[in-house]
Amino acid sequence: MNNLKYYIDKALKEHFALGAMNFNNMESLQGIMQACINTKAPAIISISEGALSYMGEDFAVGLAKICKEKFPYLFLHLDHGKSFEVCKRAVDLGFDSVMIDGSGLSFKENIALTKKVCEYAHKFDVLVEGELGQIKGIEDNVSSASQHYTDPIKAKEFVEKTDVDTLAVAIGTSHGAYKYSGKQTLRFDILEEIEKLLPNFPLVLHGASTVDEELVDTINDFGGELEKAVGIPKELLQKAVKEHNIIKINTDTDIRLAMTSKVRQVLMQEPKEFDPRKYLKPGREKITEIITDKINNIFFANNQI
Ligand code: G3H
Ligand code: 13P
Ligand code: ZN
Repeated sequence: MNNLKYYIDKALKEHFALGAMNFNNMESLQGIMQACINTKAPAIISISEGALSYMGEDFAVGLAKICKEKFPYLFLHLDHGKSFEVCKRAVDLGFDSVMIDGSGLSFKENIALTKKVCEYAHKFDVLVEGELGQIKGIEDNVSSASQHYTDPIKAKEFVEKTDVDTLAVAIGTSHGAYKYSGKQTLRFDILEEIEKLLPNFPLVLHGASTVDEELVDTINDFGGELEKAVGIPKELLQKAVKEHNIIKINTDTDIRLAMTSKVRQVLMQEPKEFDPRKYLKPGREKITEIITDKINNIFFANNQI
């Protein structure tokens, strides 16, 4: 069997997670793919609406297709689709799954929109991820100034009324590089409540980058200014995978940091260099290195194909 549903069920049963890695260009995608090939890990390659418009639909989907041909355990996913139309477009383009992010809407509106996307996507065997609660943080097209934890009772009603395949929960993670100003915790109590009401239901963690000190330090050492960057501690993510039903872990910020750390380093250390290959190649290799580590030590998805 080689489809996304198979690997979601396997991850749920065997307590590993599919990394859902965002890409914005050829080098980031190649870096991610190489890590998955090296570790024999099934994974999700995600495109946000912003990434889709940056790369252009044809380039984005074309690159993903090439990767899937090289390593058919990569599944193409639309990240944070905000409307029925953009989700429909992704389904029509052949994505394996789509996320409809109605988390900024009222509960009723979120249910109606998510249900409509499910009805369309399921006709083509495309899986749908919904979101309930609000994950803090700001990126290009995905932003929320406030954190609203997922209400477990509403989560059950949401899943039953929409027919979503997976659910993104808000338990204290956030998007971007500045995740905490105080104690680094996650609300495992809320996660447990959700799991009691929705037993064996696949859950998703967004905003799960670890924002490793090494990457932040390199960026700062070579002219960057990311002084207060903090991520989710590795141990909390490991617990979410090993002891809970988190089967998809979204990572974008760490990939951006990996690329930027190397680009900054090369350009600062070799000011006469102007061949993009000389700084993009180390960036791509750094992405492979950090994703390999996540697959082996956080997602536990190595050798799961
Ligand atoms: O969760 C959001 C993703 O990191 C995408 O961010 O809209 O800046 O591409 P983006
Ligand atoms: P990070 O910003 O923590 O990498 O989260 C990315 C994400 O949730 C993409 O949907
Ligand atoms: Zn997200």
